[in-house]
Amino acid sequence: MSYKLFIPGPIAVSEKTLRAMGQPMIGHRSPDFVALYNAIQPDLQALMNTRDPVYLSTSSAWGVMEGALRNVVQKKVLNCMNGAFSDKWNDVALRDAKAATALKFEWGQPVDPEAVRRELATGAYDAITLIHNETSCGCMSDLPAIMKVVREFPEVISIVDTVSSFSAMPISKDELGIDVFITGSQKALAMPPGLSLVSVSKRALDRAAKTEGRGYYFDFVEFQKNHEAGMTPSTPTISHIYALKSKLEDIKAEGIDARHARHARLNRMVRDHVLAKGFQMFPKEGYGSVTLNCFANTLNYDLGALNKILKSKHHLVIDGGYGKLKGKTFRISNMGDETDATIASMLQSFDAALAETPKVAA
Ligand SMILES: Cc1ncc(COP(=O)(O)O)c(C=O)c1O
Repeated sequence: MSYKLFIPGPIAVSEKTLRAMGQPMIGHRSPDFVALYNAIQPDLQALMNTRDPVYLSTSSAWGVMEGALRNVVQKKVLNCMNGAFSDKWNDVALRDAKAATALKFEWGQPVDPEAVRRELATGAYDAITLIHNETSCGCMSDLPAIMKVVREFPEVISIVDTVSSFSAMPISKDELGIDVFITGSQKALAMPPGLSLVSVSKRALDRAAKTEGRGYYFDFVEFQKNHEAGMTPSTPTISHIYALKSKLEDIKAEGIDARHARHARLNRMVRDHVLAKGFQMFPKEGYGSVTLNCFANTLNYDLGALNKILKSKHHLVIDGGYGKLKGKTFRISNMGDETDATIASMLQSFDAALAETPKVAA
């Protein structure tokens, strides 16, 4: 049975993108590949608002999230944590035998710039990790305010995950001073999972060149060397790169401002509709994500039953809560290629399914 994903990634992939992936293979050391690689660079740089190169990594985002730590952390990393993915990043740093401090906030609370300042002022750190949009709880931290603080500490390399916000809203890598900018393919870009993008500043690259133990597959120095030849270090997922080219064409055709406005509008449409039913937001007010809404299950519906009805009768699924929030929250994505009509239709299905969903004890 086929059904449409309204979970916050992976999300529905258009027929056009899937067709783009089906193009014939080319050699990854051939002039055709170099032409493909070089053709998409300017559009990627424009989307990230950067003059730095954008490397293509055949991995999901975690590959480069881990790789970034191995490339730039020599002394100690400060991990800002306010949800499942940012919590995990601290765990990954420790598994990589990096010295790391957990700067913890409640899930759903944004990262506090003043707390970041207090920690960085100790002088203990040479890197920081931050997740812009914590998908697990739908909380978007104030990236400009945090980066303003981080820029006060020139020895600190900033590693920022924009996995679930990239291309849905403006983010200016160079203006904000983000050193390592990471995103993935299966969120707002509406491609299948398997490709991640990482743009690295000159100073982060210089740090990498002097960092021991950075391995091979995610070595920024290898990426840069190959980038200069219009290639990737190892055989990349060429099908995804075709899809990316197609998606970048879509984004240009829509217009970036119109794309950002569409994400904001559809996000509000879902939020207003579900709040009107009596649910509440999970993240702190003013810090809700622009690509998904994470609602607190304040009306105590059986979310497992709700999703079963949605899937079997309406051929779509939403998310019933991530990790420790399972059953307590539900998340609805508005990222990718959604339109006013597809979101309205999904909300109609949501209403119908909810009407026959049992409640659970509070
Ligand atoms: C904000 C964020 N960072 C990182 C990840 C990890 O991405 P992946 O599983 O594609 O490696 C996710 C996945 O949902 C995410 O939402």
